[in-house]
Amino acid sequence: MKVPAGFLVVSLLLSCFTATSYGVYFSSLKETLEVTASPSKDQVLKAGEDTITVTWRFNQTYSAGTDSDYKTVKVKLCYAPISQKDRSWRKTEDRLKKDKTCPHKIVARPYAASNNSFTWTVEKDIPSGVYFVRVYALNAHDEEVAYGQNTDAHKVNNLFKIQAITGRHVSLDIASVCFSAFSIVSLAGFFYMEKRKGKSSQQK
Ligand SMILES: *[C@@H]1O[C@H](CO)[C@@H](O)[C@H](O)[C@H]1NC(C)=O
Ligand SMILES: *[C@@H]1O[C@H](CO)[C@@H](O)[C@H](O)[C@H]1NC(C)=O
Repeated sequence: MKVPAGFLVVSLLLSCFTATSYGVYFSSLKETLEVTASPSKDQVLKAGEDTITVTWRFNQTYSAGTDSDYKTVKVKLCYAPISQKDRSWRKTEDRLKKDKTCPHKIVARPYAASNNSFTWTVEKDIPSGVYFVRVYALNAHDEEVAYGQNTDAHKVNNLFKIQAITGRHVSLDIASVCFSAFSIVSLAGFFYMEKRKGKSSQQK
């Protein structure tokens, strides 16, 4: 069997890529970005309605050029420890490929050292929970090289809450399901009565 050379090159590139991106550990990243998020501490935001404005910039106490390999940023919504408890699918792992702390992407942007701001409407499918915002800087190979977050290392300060849409509309849904069930039952009852009436008048 003859394997096309192009295929070999592509798979070689792919394996190099996975090999290099395999080992990015959160603990190896420097916190060189200063990040703020608009919600005040413990504010409750409604999914599908309320907005979060995130700002980020390079922390100038790091020497100039530290950010020379930053190409893009990814802004993410992350679970605070209290919303990860007993939920292995949101577990924090030091190896970023496996980390589930920040599954919700807010935006990706080209990197700029200052004057960055983005306003995001909390998406409708975001579950209720306690959150913070983290920004990753990525290099040309799409590997995380630095980060910043709107909370401290222990994820205690400036956390905010999101209230999911389902919690708010579930009673309405139950009401409409009950109402449809009621209509079907009464319709069936109506036909049954009509049939009986028909039968009893035939019997006379
Ligand atoms: C900038 O980085 C320095 C050194 O790590 C740190 O002490 C300082 O708190 C940071 N500034 C902000 C606003 O995060
Ligand atoms: C910052 O961004 C705003 C809006 O995009 C722009 O008007 C302003 O000139 C920018 N300032 C700097 C210093 O780049």
